[in-house]
Amino acid sequence: MGFRKDFLWGGATAANQCEGGYQEGGRGLANVDLMPTGEDRWKIATGDMKHVKPDEKYFYPGHEAIDMYHHYKEDIALFAEMGFKCYRFSIAWSRVFPLGTEEKANEEGLKFYDGLIDECLKYNIKPLVTICHFDVPMGLVEAFGGWKSRKMIDAFVKFSKVLFERYKDKVEYWLTFNEINMILHAPFMGAGLVFNEEDNREEMKYQAAHYELVASARVTKLAKEINPNFKIGCMLAAGNTYANTSNPQDVFQSLEKDRENFFFIDVQSRGEYPAYALKFFEREKIHLDFLMEDKKVLRENTVDFISFSYYSSRLTSADPEVSKSTEGNVFATLRNPYLKASEWGWQIDPLGLRITMNTLYDRYQKPLFIVENGLGAVDIPDQNGEICDDYRIEYLKEHMKAMRDAVDIDGVELWGYTSWGCIDLVSASTGEMKKRYGFIYVDRDNEGNGTLKRQKKKSFHWYKEVIHSNGENL
Ligand code: BG6
Repeated sequence: MGFRKDFLWGGATAANQCEGGYQEGGRGLANVDLMPTGEDRWKIATGDMKHVKPDEKYFYPGHEAIDMYHHYKEDIALFAEMGFKCYRFSIAWSRVFPLGTEEKANEEGLKFYDGLIDECLKYNIKPLVTICHFDVPMGLVEAFGGWKSRKMIDAFVKFSKVLFERYKDKVEYWLTFNEINMILHAPFMGAGLVFNEEDNREEMKYQAAHYELVASARVTKLAKEINPNFKIGCMLAAGNTYANTSNPQDVFQSLEKDRENFFFIDVQSRGEYPAYALKFFEREKIHLDFLMEDKKVLRENTVDFISFSYYSSRLTSADPEVSKSTEGNVFATLRNPYLKASEWGWQIDPLGLRITMNTLYDRYQKPLFIVENGLGAVDIPDQNGEICDDYRIEYLKEHMKAMRDAVDIDGVELWGYTSWGCIDLVSASTGEMKKRYGFIYVDRDNEGNGTLKRQKKKSFHWYKEVIHSNGENL
């Protein structure tokens, strides 16, 4: 009983939130480099974008981030010390194709990932590579308008092919797009979409989603041709939506809210557009450029496993009066009176993880992989300079117990767990450094000050023991 013997314990990061070195090694500018700290960040992330170069009035936290570009050996040694079996990271597209439109890949950019991957393998840490974690080279945004164009599919296939061929004997686990449903919530951050006044935003978002789905299926096909043992996963920003009351209106609304997200995985895992989505497009007069060959490629190239991030459940009401108090900077939700929340208002619901796992497993009957989970919190060193993050340990422990129940009691097949931001990094939604998730503290503040020194938190030692005992003593 308990977790499987080869359970993949580890941690997760994304290039744009930890690497820094945004102009080093020939790297080109990407959409994620244009996301500053402060109020305008989310406006820009949602497509209200007026400039294509960094603007002096802003501070861009990702440009240096935690400088993993130069610290990766030290960081991976720390992951190894915790006993990581797996490390999930993403590849910055614009390091490999600085503009995105070149025919030849940038060798210097690839060398960086050669080093990173070899360093993982040195410690027997399996790399789990996210091919695209929110980034789009600005060259592709300028040339094609990001994912609003079908031309992006070929650009993505070209990028993926380079990675599959180069790492075919070194990397087994791949994710095509991080949180693919984020396109609906942060279309510039998720897909490089920029809107004009007259644009039909809904249609553009679903069109971009369609191209990403086709691209994901095309590279799944390619991956298997290059190495049939590759395991390709999709990735959902998950978290079930509860109904605010037992009123059937609320219950139905919660079902519809969940479908907005499941739609993506329904296509990636079952290979076709669900009927409810087609009806939705018809009702909303959303017309997609959808070719016969798209249908075929989607049907024939479904994913091997379902990966997802889980931070919280959500709550919805059909009553307009109640809905007025809906909040949240990424996913809209009501406050659930049964749950506590983090300092950023993200509600803490370990049982919600078990509910979400069961829903996904019932729906797709494919192995699951939790590739993000964690608590964003302010860490303050005590008088001895130590960080005693018991709140984080508590959060993680409760979530791990819930995932063990899903495995042990409910029979869900779970391949692994990589906690988010295993080393402190830049927050995607706010750009802050202060919102920390790590087992390893990084000395850097919201304004970019600090020595970048790495320090083990109390949770570092705790997680090491969790991995060592394969979660037996939770
Ligand atoms: C997910 C993303 O949405 O949540 C990560 O895949 C992100 O990139 C994480 O960092 C946590 O969100 P935040 O806003 O606290 O950084």
